[in-house]
Formats: sequence, structure tokens, C-alpha cells
Amino acid sequence: MSKPKVFITRKIPDQGLQMIQQFCDADIWQDELPPSREVLLEHARGKQGLLSLLTDTIDAEIMDAAGNDLKVISNHAVGTDNIDLRAATLRKIPVGNTPGILTEATADFAFALLLSTARRVPEADRFVRSGKWKTWGPELMLGADITGATLGIIGFGRIGQAVARRATGFKMKILYNDPYLIKDEIGLDAQSVELDFLLSHSDFISIHSPLTSQTHHLINQAAFNKMRSNTILINTARGAIIDPSALYEALKNHWIQAAALDVTEPEPISLDNPLLKLDNLVICPHIASASHSTRVKMSIMAAENLMAGLNGEKLPYCVNPEIYE
Ligand code: DGY
Repeated sequence: MSKPKVFITRKIPDQGLQMIQQFCDADIWQDELPPSREVLLEHARGKQGLLSLLTDTIDAEIMDAAGNDLKVISNHAVGTDNIDLRAATLRKIPVGNTPGILTEATADFAFALLLSTARRVPEADRFVRSGKWKTWGPELMLGADITGATLGIIGFGRIGQAVARRATGFKMKILYNDPYLIKDEIGLDAQSVELDFLLSHSDFISIHSPLTSQTHHLINQAAFNKMRSNTILINTARGAIIDPSALYEALKNHWIQAAALDVTEPEPISLDNPLLKLDNLVICPHIASASHSTRVKMSIMAAENLMAGLNGEKLPYCVNPEIYE
């Protein structure tokens, strides 16, 4: 019997890749950069499975290019905003993701951004390297206190709660806003509040919501107007949750103190983006889940989803389970 044909849109860690290669005829895109739209369409053709990354837009056209044999789309990410879930569900194609496995790594990174931005670590590093360090100074590079500060968490799912657990070690007061959460389920000392309250009462704000039509540019000019001038904003979720022009104005005019972004709109951010000129912005290339073991586990989960779909089994981690009803 011939092996099922799959397209893997980038090289993923070997552990997941080998599981797939054992049972599938795998077409693996080897470039460092994602396949272009044309390449994606061409390589999707005639495939039974697609293993995509968050950098690939998987919409109805791609699904239809693959054709009626397409049995599964497995996203090598927990977020699935790059996939048209409605189109997949309409076509009864199961879509898999990698939940849970990257919670702690992402929360660690959000907290790393929080600490390093509050205490100005990247700026201090630039200061030393550029020869500006002349002596110890009583008022040199003063930063914000973390212990006892108020942390507002937008989106209180797995990752938001993992950030809150870290914050309790710093005796932070935790506020959260999550319209989808059942309060009784939380075993944490954290207060559920309206978004406006969170924006106006937090020293630190960390975003952990998925990108949806409701959260797109949720943090806009009006939201920045509600924040305090000492607020530090952290985003490790999706870039488009923040309106980048509003963020630029807020940082440039010191309506807020600083921001740290692991995600931007668009990605990658272009080098001439005015945000990159600001000293009160810390920016990273979407690496919150990038620990060795996390990425290996993500590749295994993505492989498990892909294989289950190819075998006509229910995906272990499925974002559109309604297709099985
Ligand atoms: C995800 O999985 O959605 C992260 O953004 C990347 O690991």
C-alpha cells in the first residue's frame, strides 16, 4: 500500500519528523523562510495531510488545492489564527494544535520580559557596550519595582494562569480579564475584573488571549488612554492584539512607561518601523515557546495529530471537534 502524502511547511525537530517519515511520503520545505503562497498552493496539491506553522496562511484555497483527499491539518503551534477554521470545519477537515506543552516555556518568557523591561536589562546592556558606563551612579538606570506591584493579565487561560503563578512568588497583586473563564475553576489568588478596570489599575499588563475578531487591536488608542503612565505592557500572544500605531504614540509620548513584545504586527517587523527607534521598547522575534524540550514536544504532538488524521482517527488535540459530531 502506498504511503500517505503530506506537506510539511518547514523543517521541524527530528523527533516529530521521524515519526512522520516512518509512515508517510513527506514533502518537507527545507528553506529557512516559509513557502510563498504559490509554493504552498503547489505543494498542497494532492496531499492527504498538511503540517503547517503559524507563518502559513491555510485558507479555503489551500484546502481546495489539496483536494478531497485532504484528511488533516496539523498546526505546529497552539494558536490557530493562521488557519481558516470555518473553512476546515465546513470541509470536515480536522485541525490539530499543540496545547499545554508550551505553557510553562511561554509563561517563563513573559516573565523574563516583565523582569528585564522593568529593570531595563536590554537598555543597560546597550549602555555598557556603547561605552557609556563611567561609574556607579545613585540614579543610574532606575527601574520599576516588581515585588508588590499589580499585574493585569488579559486572557486567563493556561498561559495567563502560569504567569500568575510566577507573579505570586513576587507577591504581586493579580487582576485578570477573561470573558470565557469560569471563575470557580481557578485555584489562584487573583481577581476577575472588567477590562477597563484592569487597564487603569495595573502596573504591568501581560496579554495571553488568542487572536480573534474580538481581540484584534483590543489594545488601541482608547485602551492606552486608560493605562497609567508607569504601566509596562507585555505581549507574548499575537502581535495584532495591539494596534502598532497606537503603541508607538503611547511609548513615544510616555503615556505608558515601556512595552515588551515577543510578537508584532506584521512579523517580522520591518527595520524601518518607528517602534524600533524607541528605547522604552524591548522586542524579540516570537520565541516565547522556544526552549529545546518544548519545541521537541510540539513536533511530537503535531506528528501525533497528523498521523491520527491520516489514519481516520480522532485527533488527540483537535480545535474543531464539532466535525466528529
Ligand atoms: C504558538 O504556538 O501559538 C506560539 O505562538 C508559538 O509557539
